[in-house]
Parts: sequence; C-alpha cells; structure tokens
Amino acid sequence: MTAKKVTLALLLLADATSAQAETPKDFVAKYTAEAGAGFKPSAARGKSFFTKEFGVSKDMPSCTTCHTKDLNASGKHIITGKVIEPLSPAANPERFTTTKKVEKWFKRNCNEVVGRECTPAEKADFIQFAIEGGKA
Ligand code: HEC
Repeated sequence: MTAKKVTLALLLLADATSAQAETPKDFVAKYTAEAGAGFKPSAARGKSFFTKEFGVSKDMPSCTTCHTKDLNASGKHIITGKVIEPLSPAANPERFTTTKKVEKWFKRNCNEVVGRECTPAEKADFIQFAIEGGKA
C-alpha cells in the first residue's frame, strides 16, 4: 500500500469507529446526568417500569406486550406481528449504540404505553436493567 492509501484506510477506520462510539453505558451516564443531582440508576426500578401496566393503551398495557418479559429473547409487535430483535445488549450488540435510534423508540414507545415521554431517570433505569440481564 502507498502512504496515501494507508492514510485513507486509517481515516475510514476512524470514521467507522466514531460512528459506533456510543455504548449502553454511555447512555446510562448521559441520562443519569440529565436526571439531576443525587440520582442513581437502578436495574430494579427499571424492571418495575418495564413490567408495569400503565393502563393507557388497551392493546399495549406495558413494555412487555411487545418485548416479552425477557429482553434476551425476540419480541413480537402486538399489532403488526413483526419480530423485534432482543433489546438486551448481551443478546444484541447493536442495542443502545445510536442516539437517533434510542431516542426515536423511547419517544414512540413511551408515548404509546405510558401516555407521555419517558423521563431521563426512567430511561437510565431501563437501560441499566437491560445491561444487568433484562429478565423480569
Ligand atoms: C407496540 C410494540 C412495542 C411496545 C409496547 C414497546 N416497544 Fe420498544 N420497540 C418496539 C419496536 C418495533 C422497536 C424497534 C424495532 C427494533 O429496533 O428492532 C422498539 C425498540 C425499542 C428501543 C430501541 C433500542 C435500541 O437502541 O435499539 C427501546 C429503548 C425500546 N423499544 C424501549 C421500550 C420501552 C421502554 C417500552 C415501554 C415503555 C417499549 N419499548 C414498548 C416495539 C414496542
């Protein structure tokens, strides 16, 4: 390889790495900071949130309606029947790695199930629960 090609390859590599720079732990840290002083993420609270029946939507009372009670398992969209890949990072390394995706789906799913957007504290707890096994 010429020097120019080596430089190009390194640039491409750096770019690919930065596109995947976010990790599930980065998101927990970010939402923890947003939740404010004194907040500590809790997998136990995340689990209660995940299984809670909010009573807002008849078709989808809780997160488990589509994601099942085990985040390591594939879920199924209750309306479309489409398979949903596992949400736990251990079972699915693509989870919680891009802000766009994480924000888009928290927004949509929280509005549908909880009837409002989730708070940063709820998001931090939920991802912590997913990191720590994700079994309800
Ligand atoms: C009506 C079905 C349904 C319900 C109920 C539901 N989800 Fe989802 N969720 C989906 C679908 C569909 C996707 C996107 C498909 C995919 O990424 O495989 C998704 C993706 C996500 C993601 C994206 C994670 C990532 O980075 O890839 C998060 C976070 C999430 N859901 C959280 C929740 C939470 C929290 C609740 C409960 C408040 C919930 N979901 C309830 C269907 C649902």
